[in-house]
Amino acid sequence: MTEPKNLNDLLYETLKDIYFAEKQIVSALPKMAEAVQSPELKQAFQTHEGQTETHIERLEQVFELLGKPAQQKTCNAILGIIEEGKEVMEEFKGTDALDPGLLAGAQAVEHYEISRYGTMITWAKTLGLDDVAELLAMTLDEEEETDELLSEIAETTVNARAA
Ligand SMILES: [Fe+2]
Ligand SMILES: [Fe+2]
Repeated sequence: MTEPKNLNDLLYETLKDIYFAEKQIVSALPKMAEAVQSPELKQAFQTHEGQTETHIERLEQVFELLGKPAQQKTCNAILGIIEEGKEVMEEFKGTDALDPGLLAGAQAVEHYEISRYGTMITWAKTLGLDDVAELLAMTLDEEEETDELLSEIAETTVNARAA
């Protein structure tokens, strides 16, 4: 008989999901940086591309700590958010509304990540995996900072320019 699945399994499955998502994000960010007009927004996307590379490395460290292979699992949520970003790029190309549209898409990505990392940190702590929780918390901090920076850019420059 196979063992019933437990919280450890759930954590591993969710890590595979976010590992896939981070890899999708790292390839979407340069395209988003290229598409936008606002230098502030462009810079924010470029900075976050570098951070996202670190997020991928941290996840690989987490898989190693767990003694499990670093595998990806298709994350339909992130594929959907990225697909909507592509729609905005096509529909609002060359307009002032493109930047606010892509900024909003990027915030949807951050909110997805914040939700996932927050949950995984709680599970890791419950399982006594403090070293794992610590690594995930470093990434969560950067996702939250990025989200706040994007809000600031929206409120101070990008939205006003498009209005
Ligand atoms: Fe990330
Ligand atoms: Fe992110």
